[in-house]
Amino acid sequence: MKVMILGATGLLGKALMREWSGDEVVGLGSRDVDIRDAARVREVIQRATADWIVLSAAYTNVDGCEEDPTLAFSVNRDGALNVGVGARDTGSRLLFLSSDYVFDGKKTSPYETDDARNPQSVYGRSKAEAELRLREVLPHCCIARTSWLFGAGGKCFPDTILRLANSRPSIDVVNDQRGSPTYAADLARVIIELCRGDASGVVHITNQGDCTWFEFAQEIVKRSGLTTEVRPVTSAQMARPAPRPAYSVLSTKSLQKYGIETPAWREALIRYLNERSS
Ligand SMILES: NC(=O)c1ccc[n+]([C@@H]2O[C@H](COP(=O)([O-])OP(=O)(O)OC[C@H]3O[C@@H](n4cnc5c(N)ncnc54)[C@H](OP(=O)(O)O)[C@@H]3O)[C@@H](O)[C@H]2O)c1
Repeated sequence: MKVMILGATGLLGKALMREWSGDEVVGLGSRDVDIRDAARVREVIQRATADWIVLSAAYTNVDGCEEDPTLAFSVNRDGALNVGVGARDTGSRLLFLSSDYVFDGKKTSPYETDDARNPQSVYGRSKAEAELRLREVLPHCCIARTSWLFGAGGKCFPDTILRLANSRPSIDVVNDQRGSPTYAADLARVIIELCRGDASGVVHITNQGDCTWFEFAQEIVKRSGLTTEVRPVTSAQMARPAPRPAYSVLSTKSLQKYGIETPAWREALIRYLNERSS
């Protein structure tokens, strides 16, 4: 199989590049191709003649998106559409990375793939609109929603918590947003299996189990043998430009038909912390 990864220099992209073996894989970052440039995207995709394109590239700064919607939509929606059109014209399959932020967070049980999108932030809207546009140009594309990514090779929550925990006696972390942490290495392995399994439609990929950011931070501190106090606070106390869903746990039932199960997030965190310290 020939595979092209767009966003190969990001957190997930690096994990995909590390985990993917046995196929011919080309990884590109924004310096190789800016997905906003339709002509360049077409040229790169036509040259690659990939069986699969994994579109991980995005403007992922959620607060940055809120402050600059033009940039958010031009990369996350219009850029994604450029890739979709290129994939359609070349006959490549497309797997697009989307987000739990397409939901409003008002549910209290895990979001299913066919639950209605109702994004509350610019980032979420840009991803939701990309999903809709991609389904129009490529009805059989695969839309893989994920959440709360962590892993090696990029800024991530466990790293931030460890940095703060090592330099302060206590840290405040929000306790009114619940989701499922997802280890980039586990997500990458599932994506590879989905491509090999000819996946299409919407799937949800996260590690199993859920927690609040506070509970996640507590586990990170405990597993790292630190004694820093972690204190629960509300989102209102930690005001940020973009609203976050209060509950964005994704049901992974959609993976069952591919025979895929993901590990629990606590176990994934231990593997990450071991990887980090080795
Ligand atoms: N992180 C999360 O918690 C999370 C949660 C849900 C969904 N997702 C989705 O999962 C995917 C991967 O996330 P991530 O955390 O790995 O992202 P990331 O670390 O921020 O990496 C983003 C990637 O996109 C590339 N990129 C940005 N703007 C681009 C442009 N205009 N043209 C081409 N490439 C561009 C970057 O390239 P350069 O580095 O070379 O500039 C980088 O490779 C994204 O689609 C994201 O929306 C992430």
